[in-house]
Amino acid sequence: MNPYDESAPATPTGPPAAGGRIVGGAADGEDQAVEAALRPKDLGEFVGQERVREQLDLVLRAARARGGVADHVLLSGAPGLGKTTLSMIIAAEMGAPIRITSGPAIQHAGDLAAILSSLTEGEVLFLDEIHRMSRPAEEMLYMAMEDFRVDVVVGKGPGATAIPLELPPFTLVGATTRAGLLPPPLRDRFGFTGHMEFYAPAELERVVHRSARLLDVGIAGEGAAEIAGRSRGTPRIANRLLRRVRDYAQVKADGVVTREIAAQALDVYEVDGRGLDRLDRAVLTALLKLFAGGPVGLSTLAVAVGEERETVEEVAEPFLVREGLLARTPRGRVATPAAWQHLGLVPPPQAVPGGGRQGLFEG
Ligand SMILES: Nc1ncnc2c1ncn2[C@@H]1O[C@H](COP(=O)(O)OP(=O)(O)O)[C@@H](O)[C@H]1O
Ligand SMILES: [Mg+2]
Repeated sequence: MNPYDESAPATPTGPPAAGGRIVGGAADGEDQAVEAALRPKDLGEFVGQERVREQLDLVLRAARARGGVADHVLLSGAPGLGKTTLSMIIAAEMGAPIRITSGPAIQHAGDLAAILSSLTEGEVLFLDEIHRMSRPAEEMLYMAMEDFRVDVVVGKGPGATAIPLELPPFTLVGATTRAGLLPPPLRDRFGFTGHMEFYAPAELERVVHRSARLLDVGIAGEGAAEIAGRSRGTPRIANRLLRRVRDYAQVKADGVVTREIAAQALDVYEVDGRGLDRLDRAVLTALLKLFAGGPVGLSTLAVAVGEERETVEEVAEPFLVREGLLARTPRGRVATPAAWQHLGLVPPPQAVPGGGRQGLFEG
């Protein structure tokens, strides 16, 4: 099993980021316990995501003005960017109750029918990981979203009958890390889709300041900026790093988070200045030192770092690619000049861009 698998169920207890990564986007047990306290309660408090926020604000205002129910909303984006938070804000802004469930929790169409038939008018139904719902449930959902109606099948075999059931109008908020995995008929039934982007460092700095205030942690100077810069564009990671830095500040200093304290603490947790962890650096180091920056095949690279192929491909690479440190090419994985620079290494002459193999030694 991939020890870093972010779709694996989070452990309810245990040490921070148990079995996972301190820079993983998925929530661990401790995250879940503190996140409720850190979640912004309305759109005004929600940091960043200007476009989604503005569009959503219009959708909700219009629905309120009509005195009706808001259109169904699909939120897509990487783990930890604020999808669950936004769903709660949607309910709060509409003054509606919210019911929370997830795709994997709905195995049978009957599970969904039970939830749908107990909704009250205007209620928000939050369906997390909607791309992991079973096919029969998905088909039931189409009709529920469009006509506020479901057919409940009673009995089995030739004697089975479908009993139509009217539903009160409700707002479905679906969340997915992979909008591309949703079948088009499902995607098309959402009136509004919000694509959540990774956050800019300045936005994460605001998230850190806000959380520090709520957790009663003192921050001085550039302490928040240091944490923000290592948080991989993700508020959940920023909040987690803040808690680890707070621990360090309490034990090793006077409890106040300065830039120096934050840097020292995160060095202890092996999160470097750019947010790379030990695995990321192992992959990059192997690519540079053993394969002269590539190109090298994925399997070879995985063996070199002693990890599964999937771990390298799905856990380490996406962030390295996003950071412009590694490129996937038809000939294999290649390090960029930024990778050499980040690890403080000097590329061999033939790895100079445009130089070509042996290019500099010709003539
Ligand atoms: N825009 C934001 N402003 C402030 N905090 C945020 C924002 N987005 C996310 N967070 C914080 O990050 C944590 C994870 O957000 P969450 O909504 O659970 O992410 P997702 O559901 O996309 O995985 C929340 O506890 C919240 O405190
Ligand atoms: Mg969530």
